Amino acid sequence: MTAASHTPLRSSARIDRRRLMVACGLAGLLPGPAVWAARGGGGGTTVTRNKLYLPPTIGLSSTPTVLTARQTSVNFGGGSGRALTFNSSLPGPTLVTSKGDSVSAKLVNGLAQESSVHWHGLIVPTAQDGQPQDAVPAGGDRTYDFLVDQRAALNFYHPHPHMLTGEQVCLGLAGAFIVRDREEDALSLPAGVNELPLVIRDANFDKTGNLIYNPSSTGFSGKTALVNGTRNPSHTVGVGLYRLRVLNGANARLFKLALRWGTDPRKFYVIGNDGGLLPSMVEEFEIEFGPGERLDLLVDFRGIPNNSRLMLRDLNAGWDLLEFVVSSATPGGNYNLPTAPFPTIGALFPPDLPTRTFSFDGMSKINGREYDMDRRDFTVPPYATERWRFTTSGNAPHPIHVHGASFQVLSRSGGRGRLYSWEEGWKDTVLLKDNETVDIAIQFDSGFTGPELGRYLMHCHKLEHEDMGMMANFVVE
Ligand code: C2O
Ligand code: CU
Ligand code: CU
Repeated sequence: MTAASHTPLRSSARIDRRRLMVACGLAGLLPGPAVWAARGGGGGTTVTRNKLYLPPTIGLSSTPTVLTARQTSVNFGGGSGRALTFNSSLPGPTLVTSKGDSVSAKLVNGLAQESSVHWHGLIVPTAQDGQPQDAVPAGGDRTYDFLVDQRAALNFYHPHPHMLTGEQVCLGLAGAFIVRDREEDALSLPAGVNELPLVIRDANFDKTGNLIYNPSSTGFSGKTALVNGTRNPSHTVGVGLYRLRVLNGANARLFKLALRWGTDPRKFYVIGNDGGLLPSMVEEFEIEFGPGERLDLLVDFRGIPNNSRLMLRDLNAGWDLLEFVVSSATPGGNYNLPTAPFPTIGALFPPDLPTRTFSFDGMSKINGREYDMDRRDFTVPPYATERWRFTTSGNAPHPIHVHGASFQVLSRSGGRGRLYSWEEGWKDTVLLKDNETVDIAIQFDSGFTGPELGRYLMHCHKLEHEDMGMMANFVVE
């Protein structure tokens, strides 16, 4: 956890990046000489940076918001290419709503394939959940209507069609869905331009700069990082406190986030995760998270001199993800770290919980079975707290996601052998690595029950595993 232990990553990162550009013909898309100059070291970087894209924000209401999925051209920074987009935006528009709102969104499927929208993190009845059984045919449309009856959090919308989720997400269909509530408002967190949704993923491009999907059974592995669809992004911030709403939107890649000012580690103040605010703010220098997981981070640029550059990095791949340029000419807002107590989160754990065990095996099976959309794999009683135990015989990491309820993570044994502070509170996706056993406590208390309203999915959110069948149907009843 020290600065020194990560120093070698800087140089190996550059070697990797150079090798991949030569190998993949990306060199033509990037400013060559500037990239080579980066070898000089010293903490500075001379890669040509592109302005970070910020998707338009749409406030949802009961009047349907149209989301049109189709192929369009997208500027990735330093060049355009084809992608699949919602409303011509990659990521899709940032959807915003408040607890208690009834919202409506109409998917217009302009793709050549069936598709759907799943509202990952939102607790909605089966028919509104965008499941594979309810795909919208190519050229079709449908309207999703639901009540947002849950706490403030960053959620994630993306297609969920049978065996096509990996391809459609990888080619661009994904976006942020922010829910607000009064409890969160009471903390006066950074807002407006001081709140940045950041969808982080990896990608591959063909020679003319179009996004491509070239998965392997171990999961799609992209050679280029995209933050909000931008290659080598840079964002100018004021001398103030910022709120980063971070979504791991990769098909399969884990990111280990860290913030550096030159070689100096800077801390993240972690205030939330998948299910909203943590029980309290925690400080971390590094956070590794998997596909489908979200982080709510405060970053403090106060006290940093004008024109300083900080870098959000991925320590796993050694990638520079996003540069922040601190400018005293940019208003920094007048926000402070929250001092009021965070809303209390009651623990779900009676001492003796009935336990169900799920083994994530190979690349396509849960408890020895591949997904069959017509099969009910298990039945869960409503309003009862259960312990679900996740194990694996290999081929992890498996980021495990459950529809229909948030859960609390109880323990992780084997492997990393610990829980992280930012896994407290409510989550809907938890990372299981090889040799690990992860226990969660879960209760389905939404009132959506029976095969019509309360049929949900549990699956690996490595989208290639999901598409190969590492997914199960269950009914709350
Ligand atoms: Cu984000 Cu069932 O998926
Ligand atoms: Cu989901
Ligand atoms: Cu998996």
